[in-house]
Amino acid sequence: MEMIISASVMCADLTRLGEDIAALEAAGVDWLHFDIMDAHFVPNLTFGPDLIRNLRPVTRLPFDVHLMIEEPIRYLDRYREAGADWIVVHAEACGHLQRTLAAIRDLGARPGVALNPSTPLSALDYVLDDADLVLLMTVNPGYAGQRLVEATLPKIGQLADRLAEEGRNTILQVDGNVSFENARRMALQGARCFVAGSSSVFAEGLTRAEGTRRLREALEGESRS
Ligand code: DX5
Ligand code: ZN
Repeated sequence: MEMIISASVMCADLTRLGEDIAALEAAGVDWLHFDIMDAHFVPNLTFGPDLIRNLRPVTRLPFDVHLMIEEPIRYLDRYREAGADWIVVHAEACGHLQRTLAAIRDLGARPGVALNPSTPLSALDYVLDDADLVLLMTVNPGYAGQRLVEATLPKIGQLADRLAEEGRNTILQVDGNVSFENARRMALQGARCFVAGSSSVFAEGLTRAEGTRRLREALEGESRS
C-alpha cells in the first residue's frame, strides 16, 4: 500500500516558511497539512485562509486542510477558494455533518471527516459515502508535541477492518504524535496517511530530508494487508 506523508505546516519554521516548504517538497513529502484552529472548538488559535492563499503559488504539493473550528460549513468556500484540495471537518463540530461533507464535494474539494480520540467510530455511520478520507486523531486536537493516546491504536485497526469489509478505499489518516515508532505501530493497524509533525519530519536535530527519509523507512513494509 502506498503511504502518504502530510507534513504539518504548524510545525514548520514560521520565520522562513517559504524556504521550509521548498525543503519539504524537495524531501519528498506528499501533502502539506494545515491545522486551522478557532480558539473555540480547540483552545488554540492558528492561521486562516490568507496563509493558504499566499502559499498556494509557492508549491505544487496538495493542501490538506484540517479545520478544528465550530460549524465549518460557514467557511468552506473561503478555504476552497484559497487553495484547499482536501477539507477535513470534525464530526463533533458539525450540526449537520452529511450536509457539510456534501458541501465540500460541491465546491470541488475532497471531503474528509475527523474524529477526536474519545469519539466512537459509530459517528461515521451514514457518512462514509460522503467522505474520501477519515482522520483519526491520535491526540486531542489543539497542540503539537503531545503524547499519543494509546487507546486510539486499536481504534485504527477497527476502522481499517470496517473499510476493508465494506470494500471502500477511503484514506485512513492519523494525526498526533506520529513519531517514527508510533507511525510504524499505526501502519500495522492499517493507517495509510500520516500527519508528520514535531516528532518526525520536523524533529529537532534532523534536516527535513533526514526526517522524511526516516519516516518512510519506518513505514516501509508495515502495512496491515
Ligand atoms: C494537533 C494537530 C496536529 C499537530 C501534530 O491538534 O492537528 O496536526 O500539528 O503535531 P505532532 O506531530 O507534534 O503531534
Ligand atoms: Zn492536524
